[in-house]
Amino acid sequence: MARKKVFSGIQPTGNIHIGNYLGALRNWVALQEEYDCIYCVVDLHAITVPQDPAAFPGERHDAAKVLLAMGVDPGRSLLYYQSRVPQHAELAWILSTIASTGQMNRMTQFKEKADKAGSNLGLYSYPVLMAADILLFRADAVPVGEDQKQHLELTRDLAERFNARFGEEFPLPEPIIPKTGARIMSLQDPTAKMSKSDPDPASRILILDDPATIRRRVKRAVTDSETEVRFDWEKKAGVSNLMEMYSLFTGASMEQIEAEFGTGGYGRFKEAVAEEIIAGLAPFRRAYEALDDAEVDRIMEAGAEAARRRAEVYQEAVRRRVGLSA
Ligand code: AMP
Ligand code: TRP
Repeated sequence: MARKKVFSGIQPTGNIHIGNYLGALRNWVALQEEYDCIYCVVDLHAITVPQDPAAFPGERHDAAKVLLAMGVDPGRSLLYYQSRVPQHAELAWILSTIASTGQMNRMTQFKEKADKAGSNLGLYSYPVLMAADILLFRADAVPVGEDQKQHLELTRDLAERFNARFGEEFPLPEPIIPKTGARIMSLQDPTAKMSKSDPDPASRILILDDPATIRRRVKRAVTDSETEVRFDWEKKAGVSNLMEMYSLFTGASMEQIEAEFGTGGYGRFKEAVAEEIIAGLAPFRRAYEALDDAEVDRIMEAGAEAARRRAEVYQEAVRRRVGLSA
């Protein structure tokens, strides 16, 4: 039997942070063992907020390089830039004709982004392009962080609606959202998720941050006025956030962390958290430094070529269903 398919995407703007890693990318890498994986640097999504056309190619290249350094393996998985595979945009258009505006108006991420950056039609239809990404290859499963849950529901809904109207074409994709780490919070405001677009760099730790920066960021992470290391999102969000990171990097349970650090004060706990993050990210920094830029470009071009070939077979079936086939 053919292996099940996994699809996921990441925007290439700003640098990849540990929220991306713990919420999604860790799973990207792990799932390669079992699934046929297709991973996409979603540059068309990124331009829904203004980008500098001179800087953008570099950011996109760098995102690809970080993914490769983290263990996305082009020998086993497809990795490419979304804009190099035009079937994504074509399918997004087709799906947009069956998405209702009422449903689009309920998308919460659009509202948040529009409040901050102002709205445009691309930002509004962003979730439809994401649905197209996933459905293009008939993905069965989609590893993402918690913030993408609503978009996955829309994807399933559009798939069902398409199938009902034009005939069974799309499987309904399942989200793969980790139990711990699906929503890593800002180090400066533990009520907001860690985000690439937060203007305060102290709010996040990047995959390529050096040890001194990581120590500084963890040390300055906002906690609370108590001293007890205890897992309690309601009352101790800052500490709980650090505990999740520690747990994910070490495999220790919350009970074990509480037993080891509970009464030792925040200073000692934060030092331990920082050291585990440093150790966990070190292999990625090394791999990143060892990667050759021309080789990254070659991998991305070969990925796009293979993705186009695969996508075209699927896409022709969609065109036939809707009456657009040559
Ligand atoms: P983005 O940076 O928005 O392209 O996100 C890439 C992936 O990382 C998506 O699967 C997101 O759900 C996930 N992600 C982004 N921010 C976080 C966070 N703070 N905690 C956990 N996962 C996240
Ligand atoms: N919207 C996702 C994010 O902001 C990125 C994305 C685009 C994606 N297309 C996708 C994620 C398809 C999973 C599957 O993080």
